[in-house]
Amino acid sequence: MSRLDRRKKLFIKTYGCQMNVYDSARMADVLAPLGYEAAPEPDGADLVILNTCHIREKAAEKVFSDLGRLRPLKDAKADDGEKMLIAVAGCVAQAEGDALVARAPFVDIVFGPQTTHRLPELVARAHREAGAVLDTDFPVDTKFDHLPPPRADGPTAFLSVQEGCDKFCTFCVVPYTRGAEYSRPVKAVIDEARGLVAGGVREITLLGQNVNAYHGETEDIGAARGAGTWGLGRLIRELAEIEGLDRIRYTTSHPRDMDDDLIAAHAEVPALMPYLHLPVQSGSNRILEAMNRGHTRDGYYRIIDRLRDGRPDLALSSDFIVGFPGETDDDFAYTMRLIEDIGFAQAFSFKYSARPGTPASEHGDQIADDVKSARLTALQSLLASQQTAFNSACVGQTVPVLLTGTGRHDGQMVGRSPYLQPVHMQAPQDWFGRIVSAEITEAVANSLSAVAVDAPGAKDSSTTSAAKVSAN
Ligand code: 5AD
Ligand code: SF4
Repeated sequence: MSRLDRRKKLFIKTYGCQMNVYDSARMADVLAPLGYEAAPEPDGADLVILNTCHIREKAAEKVFSDLGRLRPLKDAKADDGEKMLIAVAGCVAQAEGDALVARAPFVDIVFGPQTTHRLPELVARAHREAGAVLDTDFPVDTKFDHLPPPRADGPTAFLSVQEGCDKFCTFCVVPYTRGAEYSRPVKAVIDEARGLVAGGVREITLLGQNVNAYHGETEDIGAARGAGTWGLGRLIRELAEIEGLDRIRYTTSHPRDMDDDLIAAHAEVPALMPYLHLPVQSGSNRILEAMNRGHTRDGYYRIIDRLRDGRPDLALSSDFIVGFPGETDDDFAYTMRLIEDIGFAQAFSFKYSARPGTPASEHGDQIADDVKSARLTALQSLLASQQTAFNSACVGQTVPVLLTGTGRHDGQMVGRSPYLQPVHMQAPQDWFGRIVSAEITEAVANSLSAVAVDAPGAKDSSTTSAAKVSAN
Protein backbone atom coordinates (compact mmCIF):
# COMPACT_ATOMS: atom_id res chain seq x y z
CA MET A 1 0.00 0.00 0.00
CA SER A 2 1.44 3.38 -0.92
CA ARG A 3 1.62 6.17 1.62
CA LEU A 4 -1.16 7.99 -0.20
CA ASP A 5 -3.52 5.03 0.17
CA ARG A 6 -3.07 4.84 3.92
CA ARG A 7 -6.21 5.54 5.93
CA LYS A 8 -5.65 8.69 7.94
CA LYS A 9 -6.74 9.28 11.49
CA LEU A 10 -8.86 12.30 12.32
CA PHE A 11 -9.59 13.49 15.84
CA ILE A 12 -12.08 16.32 16.33
CA LYS A 13 -12.79 17.94 19.67
CA THR A 14 -15.92 20.06 19.81
CA TYR A 15 -16.49 22.86 22.31
CA GLY A 16 -19.62 24.91 22.89
CA CYS A 17 -22.94 24.92 21.13
CA GLN A 18 -24.87 22.47 18.96
CA MET A 19 -23.98 24.46 15.84
CA ASN A 20 -20.40 23.41 16.52
CA VAL A 21 -21.48 19.78 16.96
CA TYR A 22 -23.17 20.03 13.56
CA ASP A 23 -20.14 21.71 11.96
CA SER A 24 -17.76 19.09 13.38
CA ALA A 25 -19.84 16.32 11.79
CA ARG A 26 -19.67 18.18 8.48
CA MET A 27 -15.88 18.49 8.78
CA ALA A 28 -15.66 14.71 9.15
CA ASP A 29 -17.96 14.37 6.09
CA VAL A 30 -15.81 16.55 3.81
CA LEU A 31 -12.63 14.81 4.93
CA ALA A 32 -13.94 11.25 4.52
CA PRO A 33 -13.31 11.17 0.74
CA LEU A 34 -9.66 12.01 1.48
CA GLY A 35 -9.35 8.86 3.58
CA TYR A 36 -9.77 10.42 7.02
CA GLU A 37 -11.47 8.20 9.60
CA ALA A 38 -12.50 9.13 13.13
CA ALA A 39 -9.97 8.31 15.84
CA PRO A 40 -10.99 8.08 19.50
CA GLU A 41 -8.01 10.10 20.77
CA PRO A 42 -5.55 12.67 19.44
CA ASP A 43 -2.45 10.53 20.12
CA GLY A 44 -1.10 9.39 16.75
CA ALA A 45 -3.76 11.24 14.72
CA ASP A 46 -2.81 12.69 11.32
CA LEU A 47 -5.16 15.62 11.75
CA VAL A 48 -6.49 17.07 14.98
CA ILE A 49 -9.21 19.71 14.79
CA LEU A 50 -10.27 21.77 17.79
CA ASN A 51 -13.68 23.23 16.92
CA THR A 52 -13.76 26.07 19.39
CA CYS A 53 -16.16 28.35 21.25
CA HIS A 54 -15.57 32.01 22.07
CA ILE A 55 -18.74 32.73 23.99
CA ARG A 56 -17.15 32.98 27.43
CA GLU A 57 -13.54 33.49 28.45
CA LYS A 58 -13.28 30.06 30.09
CA ALA A 59 -14.27 28.26 26.89
CA ALA A 60 -11.72 30.23 24.87
CA GLU A 61 -8.89 29.66 27.37
CA LYS A 62 -9.53 25.92 27.40
CA VAL A 63 -8.43 25.82 23.76
CA PHE A 64 -4.98 27.07 24.68
CA SER A 65 -4.51 24.51 27.44
CA ASP A 66 -5.62 21.76 25.03
CA LEU A 67 -3.19 23.06 22.40
CA GLY A 68 -0.43 22.84 25.01
CA ARG A 69 -1.25 19.15 25.48
CA LEU A 70 -1.25 18.50 21.73
CA ARG A 71 2.21 19.86 21.14
CA PRO A 72 4.17 16.88 22.58
CA LEU A 73 1.91 14.51 20.59
CA LYS A 74 2.78 16.40 17.43
CA ASP A 75 6.50 16.26 18.32
CA ALA A 76 6.30 12.52 19.03
CA LYS A 77 4.71 11.93 15.64
CA ALA A 78 7.41 14.05 13.98
CA ASP A 79 10.03 11.86 15.72
CA ASP A 80 8.44 8.91 13.90
CA GLY A 81 8.88 10.80 10.62
CA GLU A 82 5.17 11.60 10.28
CA LYS A 83 3.20 14.81 10.41
CA MET A 84 0.33 15.64 12.72
CA LEU A 85 -1.60 18.61 11.41
CA ILE A 86 -3.27 20.71 14.08
CA ALA A 87 -6.24 22.84 13.04
CA VAL A 88 -8.19 25.33 15.11
CA ALA A 89 -11.72 25.91 13.83
CA GLY A 90 -14.82 27.70 15.06
CA CYS A 91 -15.33 30.97 16.85
CA VAL A 92 -11.94 31.33 18.61
CA ALA A 93 -10.30 30.83 15.22
CA GLN A 94 -12.57 33.48 13.71
CA ALA A 95 -12.08 36.01 16.50
CA GLU A 96 -8.43 35.49 17.35
CA GLY A 97 -6.86 33.93 14.22
CA ASP A 98 -3.60 35.91 14.09
CA ALA A 99 -3.16 36.09 17.88
CA LEU A 100 -3.73 32.36 18.05
CA VAL A 101 -0.94 31.59 15.61
CA ALA A 102 1.38 33.98 17.45
CA ARG A 103 0.62 32.24 20.75
CA ALA A 104 0.69 28.69 19.37
CA PRO A 105 2.96 28.75 16.29
CA PHE A 106 2.77 24.96 15.90
CA VAL A 107 -0.86 25.30 14.74
CA ASP A 108 -1.07 24.47 11.01
CA ILE A 109 -4.58 25.56 10.02
CA VAL A 110 -6.93 28.22 11.37
CA PHE A 111 -10.40 28.44 9.85
CA GLY A 112 -13.67 30.05 10.83
CA PRO A 113 -17.22 28.68 11.01
CA GLN A 114 -18.10 29.79 7.48
CA THR A 115 -15.36 27.96 5.60
CA THR A 116 -15.88 24.32 6.63
CA HIS A 117 -16.31 23.35 2.97
CA ARG A 118 -12.79 24.56 2.15
CA LEU A 119 -11.18 22.20 4.64
CA PRO A 120 -9.81 19.69 2.07
CA GLU A 121 -8.07 22.54 0.25
CA LEU A 122 -6.71 23.93 3.53
CA VAL A 123 -5.31 20.53 4.49
CA ALA A 124 -3.59 20.22 1.10
CA ARG A 125 -2.10 23.70 1.50
CA ALA A 126 -0.91 22.94 5.03
CA HIS A 127 1.02 19.96 3.68
CA ARG A 128 2.60 22.13 0.98
CA GLU A 129 3.23 25.42 2.70
CA ALA A 130 5.44 26.32 5.61
CA GLY A 131 3.70 28.25 8.40
CA ALA A 132 0.05 28.37 9.35
CA VAL A 133 -2.72 28.51 6.75
CA LEU A 134 -5.45 30.96 7.75
CA ASP A 135 -8.99 31.15 6.35
CA THR A 136 -11.34 33.31 8.36
CA ASP A 137 -13.35 34.84 5.50
CA PHE A 138 -17.06 35.33 5.38
CA PRO A 139 -17.40 34.06 1.77
CA VAL A 140 -20.30 35.33 -0.36
CA ASP A 141 -21.36 31.78 -1.16
CA THR A 142 -22.40 29.76 1.88
CA LYS A 143 -20.86 26.57 3.15
CA PHE A 144 -24.26 24.90 2.73
CA ASP A 145 -23.98 25.34 -1.05
CA HIS A 146 -20.89 23.15 -1.01
CA LEU A 147 -21.23 20.61 1.77
CA PRO A 148 -22.50 17.13 0.92
CA PRO A 149 -25.87 16.23 2.49
CA PRO A 150 -25.33 14.91 6.01
CA ARG A 151 -25.58 11.17 6.56
CA ALA A 152 -28.15 9.77 8.96
CA ASP A 153 -26.42 8.32 12.00
CA GLY A 154 -29.06 6.91 14.34
CA PRO A 155 -32.64 8.02 14.99
CA THR A 156 -31.91 11.68 15.85
CA ALA A 157 -30.22 14.39 13.80
CA PHE A 158 -29.47 18.07 13.73
CA LEU A 159 -30.44 20.02 10.65
CA SER A 160 -28.96 23.50 10.34
CA VAL A 161 -31.53 25.89 8.84
CA GLN A 162 -30.10 29.24 9.81
CA GLU A 163 -26.81 30.72 10.85
CA GLY A 164 -25.44 33.96 12.21
CA CYS A 165 -27.12 36.73 14.11
CA ASP A 166 -28.01 40.39 13.57
CA LYS A 167 -29.29 41.06 17.09
CA PHE A 168 -26.06 42.32 18.65
CA CYS A 169 -26.85 41.67 22.29
CA THR A 170 -24.21 43.79 23.99
CA PHE A 171 -22.56 40.83 25.77
CA CYS A 172 -22.32 38.46 22.83
CA VAL A 173 -19.57 37.64 20.32
CA VAL A 174 -21.73 35.59 17.97
CA PRO A 175 -22.60 38.37 15.48
CA TYR A 176 -18.86 38.97 15.09
CA THR A 177 -17.75 35.34 14.84
CA ARG A 178 -20.64 33.75 12.94
CA GLY A 179 -21.52 36.79 10.87
CA ALA A 180 -24.81 38.13 9.54
CA GLU A 181 -28.06 36.21 9.78
CA TYR A 182 -28.60 33.79 6.90
CA SER A 183 -31.47 31.35 6.29
CA ARG A 184 -31.17 28.34 4.03
CA PRO A 185 -33.78 28.07 1.27
CA VAL A 186 -36.86 26.00 2.13
CA LYS A 187 -36.18 23.39 -0.54
CA ALA A 188 -32.66 22.69 0.69
CA VAL A 189 -34.01 22.15 4.21
CA ILE A 190 -36.86 19.87 3.09
CA ASP A 191 -34.56 17.81 0.86
CA GLU A 192 -32.08 17.39 3.69
CA ALA A 193 -34.85 16.39 6.10
CA ARG A 194 -36.22 13.83 3.63
CA GLY A 195 -32.74 12.37 3.15
CA LEU A 196 -32.25 12.04 6.90
CA VAL A 197 -35.65 10.38 7.38
CA ALA A 198 -34.92 7.98 4.50
CA GLY A 199 -31.76 7.04 6.43
CA GLY A 200 -33.76 6.18 9.57
CA VAL A 201 -33.93 9.50 11.42
CA ARG A 202 -37.18 10.00 13.38
CA GLU A 203 -36.36 13.15 15.33
CA ILE A 204 -34.87 16.28 13.78
CA THR A 205 -33.67 19.29 15.73
CA LEU A 206 -33.64 22.39 13.55
CA LEU A 207 -30.58 24.42 14.39
CA GLY A 208 -29.66 28.06 14.18
CA GLN A 209 -28.07 30.74 16.35
CA ASN A 210 -31.38 32.49 16.01
CA VAL A 211 -33.40 29.69 14.59
CA ASN A 212 -36.78 31.38 14.90
CA ALA A 213 -35.51 34.35 12.89
CA TYR A 214 -35.66 31.84 10.01
CA HIS A 215 -36.97 33.37 6.78
CA GLY A 216 -36.36 30.90 4.00
CA GLU A 217 -36.82 31.57 0.30
CA THR A 218 -39.37 29.36 -1.43
CA GLU A 219 -38.49 30.16 -5.04
CA ASP A 220 -37.64 26.61 -6.03
CA ILE A 221 -40.51 24.73 -4.36
CA GLY A 222 -43.27 25.99 -6.65
CA ALA A 223 -45.70 28.82 -6.00
CA ALA A 224 -48.58 26.43 -5.21
CA ARG A 225 -46.94 25.45 -1.90
CA GLY A 226 -46.43 29.04 -0.81
CA ALA A 227 -44.81 32.04 -2.36
CA GLY A 228 -42.53 34.49 -0.59
CA THR A 229 -40.46 33.66 2.43
CA TRP A 230 -41.42 31.19 5.12
CA GLY A 231 -40.98 31.66 8.84
CA LEU A 232 -40.05 28.82 11.16
CA GLY A 233 -43.67 27.95 12.03
CA ARG A 234 -44.51 27.41 8.36
CA LEU A 235 -41.36 25.37 7.84
CA ILE A 236 -42.19 23.15 10.81
CA ARG A 237 -45.71 22.53 9.49
CA GLU A 238 -44.23 21.42 6.16
CA LEU A 239 -41.62 19.17 7.74
CA ALA A 240 -44.30 17.57 9.92
CA GLU A 241 -45.86 16.23 6.70
CA ILE A 242 -42.82 14.05 6.01
CA GLU A 243 -43.83 10.43 6.54
CA GLY A 244 -41.66 8.87 9.25
CA LEU A 245 -40.56 12.13 10.84
CA ASP A 246 -42.14 11.71 14.27
CA ARG A 247 -40.48 14.46 16.23
CA ILE A 248 -39.36 18.01 15.48
CA ARG A 249 -37.49 20.35 17.81
CA TYR A 250 -35.67 23.62 17.29
CA THR A 251 -32.98 25.57 19.06
CA THR A 252 -31.86 28.30 19.88
CA SER A 253 -34.63 30.80 19.72
CA HIS A 254 -35.12 34.44 20.69
CA PRO A 255 -38.20 35.92 22.38
CA ARG A 256 -38.36 38.69 19.77
CA ASP A 257 -38.91 36.15 17.00
CA MET A 258 -41.68 34.10 18.66
CA ASP A 259 -44.28 35.11 16.08
CA ASP A 260 -47.97 34.15 16.09
CA ASP A 261 -47.54 31.31 13.62
CA LEU A 262 -44.74 29.69 15.59
CA ILE A 263 -46.67 29.99 18.84
CA ALA A 264 -49.70 28.45 17.13
CA ALA A 265 -47.54 25.63 15.74
CA HIS A 266 -46.78 24.54 19.31
CA ALA A 267 -50.51 23.97 19.82
CA GLU A 268 -51.34 22.61 16.38
CA VAL A 269 -48.44 20.45 15.21
CA PRO A 270 -48.29 17.22 17.24
CA ALA A 271 -44.81 16.35 15.94
CA LEU A 272 -43.42 19.56 17.43
CA MET A 273 -42.20 18.30 20.78
CA PRO A 274 -43.42 20.01 23.96
CA TYR A 275 -40.04 21.44 24.89
CA LEU A 276 -38.74 24.93 24.19
CA HIS A 277 -35.39 26.53 24.91
CA LEU A 278 -36.14 30.26 24.98
CA PRO A 279 -33.28 32.29 26.48
CA VAL A 280 -34.40 35.26 28.58
CA GLN A 281 -30.98 36.17 30.10
CA SER A 282 -32.41 38.45 32.81
CA GLY A 283 -35.71 39.31 34.49
CA SER A 284 -34.88 43.00 34.91
CA ASN A 285 -36.13 45.42 32.26
CA ARG A 286 -33.23 47.77 32.97
CA ILE A 287 -30.70 44.99 32.33
CA LEU A 288 -32.61 43.63 29.33
CA GLU A 289 -32.40 47.07 27.81
CA ALA A 290 -28.68 47.41 28.57
CA MET A 291 -28.25 43.99 26.95
CA ASN A 292 -30.06 45.25 23.83
CA ARG A 293 -32.36 42.25 24.01
CA GLY A 294 -35.31 44.01 22.42
CA HIS A 295 -37.86 42.43 24.78
CA THR A 296 -39.10 43.11 28.28
CA ARG A 297 -39.90 40.94 31.27
CA ASP A 298 -43.64 41.30 30.62
CA GLY A 299 -43.16 40.51 26.96
CA TYR A 300 -41.51 37.24 27.96
CA TYR A 301 -44.35 36.41 30.38
CA ARG A 302 -46.89 37.05 27.62
CA ILE A 303 -45.14 34.72 25.18
CA ILE A 304 -44.99 31.95 27.78
CA ASP A 305 -48.68 32.42 28.66
CA ARG A 306 -49.68 32.12 25.02
CA LEU A 307 -47.50 29.06 24.48
CA ARG A 308 -48.89 27.36 27.57
CA ASP A 309 -52.46 28.24 26.59
CA GLY A 310 -51.99 26.11 23.48
CA ARG A 311 -49.67 23.46 24.95
CA PRO A 312 -50.11 23.28 28.74
CA ASP A 313 -47.46 20.60 29.22
CA LEU A 314 -44.73 22.60 27.46
CA ALA A 315 -41.37 22.10 29.22
CA LEU A 316 -39.38 25.32 29.28
CA SER A 317 -35.66 25.86 29.25
CA SER A 318 -33.72 29.11 29.21
CA ASP A 319 -30.32 30.80 29.45
CA PHE A 320 -29.49 33.24 32.24
CA ILE A 321 -26.56 35.60 32.72
CA VAL A 322 -25.82 36.90 36.21
CA GLY A 323 -23.57 39.84 36.99
CA PHE A 324 -24.07 41.74 33.74
CA PRO A 325 -22.39 45.17 34.16
CA GLY A 326 -24.49 47.41 36.40
CA GLU A 327 -26.71 44.55 37.70
CA THR A 328 -27.96 45.51 41.18
CA ASP A 329 -29.44 43.28 43.88
CA ASP A 330 -32.87 44.52 42.76
CA ASP A 331 -32.19 43.57 39.14
CA PHE A 332 -31.10 40.13 40.26
CA ALA A 333 -34.22 39.80 42.43
CA TYR A 334 -36.33 40.38 39.29
CA THR A 335 -34.52 37.48 37.60
CA MET A 336 -35.20 35.21 40.59
CA ARG A 337 -38.85 36.30 40.56
CA LEU A 338 -39.16 35.52 36.86
CA ILE A 339 -37.79 32.02 37.46
CA GLU A 340 -40.23 31.47 40.33
CA ASP A 341 -43.16 32.77 38.27
CA ILE A 342 -42.46 30.74 35.15
CA GLY A 343 -40.97 27.48 36.40
CA PHE A 344 -38.30 25.92 34.19
CA ALA A 345 -37.84 22.23 33.43
CA GLN A 346 -34.15 22.87 32.95
CA ALA A 347 -31.81 25.78 32.22
CA PHE A 348 -28.30 27.00 31.56
CA SER A 349 -26.84 29.82 33.62
CA PHE A 350 -23.60 31.69 33.47
CA LYS A 351 -21.59 34.43 35.13
CA TYR A 352 -21.23 37.37 32.78
CA SER A 353 -17.89 37.13 30.99
CA ALA A 354 -16.49 40.27 29.34
CA ARG A 355 -15.71 39.46 25.72
CA PRO A 356 -13.27 41.56 23.72
CA GLY A 357 -14.94 43.82 21.16
CA THR A 358 -18.44 43.65 22.67
CA PRO A 359 -20.04 46.88 23.99
CA ALA A 360 -20.73 45.51 27.49
CA SER A 361 -17.06 44.69 28.02
CA GLU A 362 -16.34 48.45 27.98
CA HIS A 363 -19.03 49.23 30.55
CA GLY A 364 -17.58 50.98 33.60
CA ASP A 365 -19.68 49.14 36.14
CA GLN A 366 -18.32 45.57 35.98
CA ILE A 367 -19.54 43.36 38.82
CA ALA A 368 -17.09 41.77 41.28
CA ASP A 369 -16.55 38.05 40.81
CA ASP A 370 -17.64 37.12 44.34
CA VAL A 371 -20.96 38.90 43.78
CA LYS A 372 -21.43 37.04 40.47
CA SER A 373 -20.60 33.74 42.17
CA ALA A 374 -23.08 34.30 45.01
CA ARG A 375 -25.84 35.21 42.54
CA LEU A 376 -25.06 32.23 40.32
CA THR A 377 -25.20 29.84 43.30
CA ALA A 378 -28.59 31.18 44.40
CA LEU A 379 -29.99 31.09 40.88
CA GLN A 380 -28.70 27.60 40.13
CA SER A 381 -30.10 26.23 43.33
CA LEU A 382 -33.55 27.59 42.45
CA LEU A 383 -33.30 26.20 38.91
CA ALA A 384 -32.10 22.81 40.20
CA SER A 385 -35.08 22.56 42.55
CA GLN A 386 -37.41 23.35 39.66
CA GLN A 387 -35.76 20.72 37.48
CA THR A 388 -36.14 18.13 40.25
CA ALA A 389 -39.78 19.11 40.71
CA PHE A 390 -40.44 18.83 36.97
CA ASN A 391 -38.77 15.41 36.74
CA SER A 392 -40.49 14.10 39.89
CA ALA A 393 -43.87 15.15 38.53
CA CYS A 394 -43.26 12.83 35.57
CA VAL A 395 -43.12 9.74 37.81
CA GLY A 396 -46.20 7.60 37.17
CA GLN A 397 -46.82 9.10 33.72
CA THR A 398 -46.61 7.03 30.57
CA VAL A 399 -44.67 8.79 27.83
CA PRO A 400 -43.30 7.84 24.41
CA VAL A 401 -39.52 7.39 24.58
CA LEU A 402 -37.35 7.41 21.47
CA LEU A 403 -34.53 4.91 22.11
CA THR A 404 -31.24 6.45 21.02
CA GLY A 405 -28.55 4.17 22.47
CA THR A 406 -27.43 1.60 24.97
CA GLY A 407 -27.27 2.46 28.68
CA ARG A 408 -24.39 1.86 31.06
CA HIS A 409 -25.89 -1.28 32.59
CA ASP A 410 -26.47 -4.69 31.04
CA GLY A 411 -29.64 -4.84 28.98
CA GLN A 412 -30.28 -1.15 29.44
CA MET A 413 -31.27 1.28 26.71
CA VAL A 414 -31.42 5.05 26.91
CA GLY A 415 -33.75 7.38 25.10
CA ARG A 416 -35.49 10.73 25.17
CA SER A 417 -38.86 11.73 26.48
CA PRO A 418 -40.90 14.34 24.58
CA TYR A 419 -39.56 16.84 27.16
CA LEU A 420 -35.95 15.98 26.21
CA GLN A 421 -35.26 14.19 29.48
CA PRO A 422 -32.87 11.23 29.21
CA VAL A 423 -34.79 8.05 30.08
CA HIS A 424 -33.22 4.69 31.05
CA MET A 425 -35.04 1.38 30.77
CA GLN A 426 -34.44 -2.34 30.38
CA ALA A 427 -35.01 -3.09 26.71
CA PRO A 428 -33.63 -5.33 23.97
CA GLN A 429 -30.96 -3.70 21.84
CA ASP A 430 -32.97 -4.19 18.67
CA TRP A 431 -35.43 -1.61 19.95
CA PHE A 432 -32.80 1.00 19.04
CA GLY A 433 -34.50 3.77 17.06
CA ARG A 434 -38.01 2.76 18.12
CA ILE A 435 -40.49 4.82 20.08
CA VAL A 436 -41.55 2.93 23.20
CA SER A 437 -44.46 3.71 25.44
CA ALA A 438 -42.89 3.75 28.89
CA GLU A 439 -44.03 4.39 32.42
CA ILE A 440 -41.70 6.64 34.38
CA THR A 441 -40.84 4.89 37.65
CA GLU A 442 -38.20 7.14 39.16
CA ALA A 443 -36.57 10.53 38.76
CA VAL A 444 -32.83 10.32 39.42
CA ALA A 445 -30.42 13.28 39.22
CA ASN A 446 -30.86 14.60 35.66
CA SER A 447 -32.57 11.59 34.16
CA LEU A 448 -35.55 9.28 34.52
CA SER A 449 -35.97 5.53 34.91
CA ALA A 450 -38.86 3.80 33.16
CA VAL A 451 -40.39 0.46 32.26
CA ALA A 452 -41.75 -0.28 28.80
CA VAL A 453 -45.51 -0.77 28.91
CA ASP A 454 -45.81 -2.32 25.49
CA ALA A 455 -43.49 -3.50 22.75
CA PRO A 456 -42.95 -0.79 20.17
CA GLY A 457 -43.95 -0.97 16.55
CA ALA A 458 -41.28 0.15 14.12
CA LYS A 459 -43.23 3.26 13.20
CA ASP A 460 -45.69 3.90 16.02
CA SER A 461 -46.57 7.49 16.63
CA SER A 462 -44.81 9.36 19.41
CA THR A 463 -47.11 12.23 19.05
CA THR A 464 -50.52 10.93 19.94
CA SER A 465 -49.45 9.83 23.37
CA ALA A 466 -47.23 12.88 23.85
CA ALA A 467 -50.28 15.03 23.50
CA LYS A 468 -52.01 13.05 26.24
CA VAL A 469 -49.32 13.61 28.84
CA SER A 470 -50.67 15.95 31.43
CA ALA A 471 -49.08 19.17 32.58
CA ASN A 472 -46.63 19.29 35.44
N1 5AD B 1 -21.03 36.01 29.29
C1 5AD B 1 -21.78 35.03 29.86
N2 5AD B 1 -22.67 34.30 29.17
C2 5AD B 1 -22.82 34.57 27.86
N3 5AD B 1 -23.62 34.04 26.94
C3 5AD B 1 -23.39 34.65 25.75
N4 5AD B 1 -22.43 35.58 25.90
C4 5AD B 1 -22.06 35.55 27.21
C5 5AD B 1 -21.14 36.30 27.97
N5 5AD B 1 -20.39 37.25 27.42
C6 5AD B 1 -24.62 33.02 27.23
C7 5AD B 1 -26.04 33.52 26.95
C8 5AD B 1 -26.39 32.78 25.69
C9 5AD B 1 -25.63 31.48 25.88
C10 5AD B 1 -25.42 30.69 24.64
O1 5AD B 1 -24.39 31.88 26.42
O2 5AD B 1 -26.88 33.13 28.02
O3 5AD B 1 -27.78 32.58 25.53
FE1 SF4 C 1 -25.80 36.40 20.83
FE2 SF4 C 1 -28.01 37.85 21.30
FE3 SF4 C 1 -27.52 36.87 18.83
FE4 SF4 C 1 -28.20 35.20 20.82
S1 SF4 C 1 -29.49 36.85 19.96
S2 SF4 C 1 -26.53 34.89 19.33
S3 SF4 C 1 -27.21 36.16 22.58
S4 SF4 C 1 -26.30 38.40 19.90
